[in-house]
Amino acid sequence: MLIVCLRKNKLLKAAAALSVLVFIAAAQQPSRSVWDGIYTADQARRGADLYADQCASCHGLSLNGGEMAPPLTGGEFMSNWNGLTVGDLFDRIRTTMPADAPGKLNRDKTADILANILSVNMFPAGKTELPRQSEVLKDIRFEAQKK
Ligand code: HEC
Repeated sequence: MLIVCLRKNKLLKAAAALSVLVFIAAAQQPSRSVWDGIYTADQARRGADLYADQCASCHGLSLNGGEMAPPLTGGEFMSNWNGLTVGDLFDRIRTTMPADAPGKLNRDKTADILANILSVNMFPAGKTELPRQSEVLKDIRFEAQKK
């Protein structure tokens, strides 16, 4: 009887330890990626208008870069952000762009513009809009290649 109890206790402890591990792994590993339809087509269209107003003068209408500003599409852009999160890219835009007036865009506008950038880069649209909270966006992986 005693032995059975001890075993049971050990098992419970092992199960508890395992669930803690699973929890930690889940917290560290973003659960979605840019391939999961994380913005809507409507949002990207709104973002395209904002992009034309706020970003195109430097980054080009088709995001292909300008004299000073880098492209926001193509191989170099992809490798710059590959392995980071959509939240990192969101915060980069929100806090440093437009380069001549950083901080000018609110979270809604930044999310719409980012949806447009994702759309031009051929990541698929989905049924829900790209969220505006950095913490939620940090849970979405930026992956150049679909895994
Ligand atoms: C006045 C010119 C100018 C405008 C307007 C501008 N940018 Fe930039 N942007 C730059 C320059 C120059 C860089 C590179 C130097 C730097 O990082 O500041 C850059 C860098 C970036 C990067 C980093 C690219 C990479 O591969 O790491 C992103 C993303 C970006 N801009 C997005 C935007 C968005 C979105 C807008 C519109 C809201 C915008 N920019 C408006 C000049 C501009």
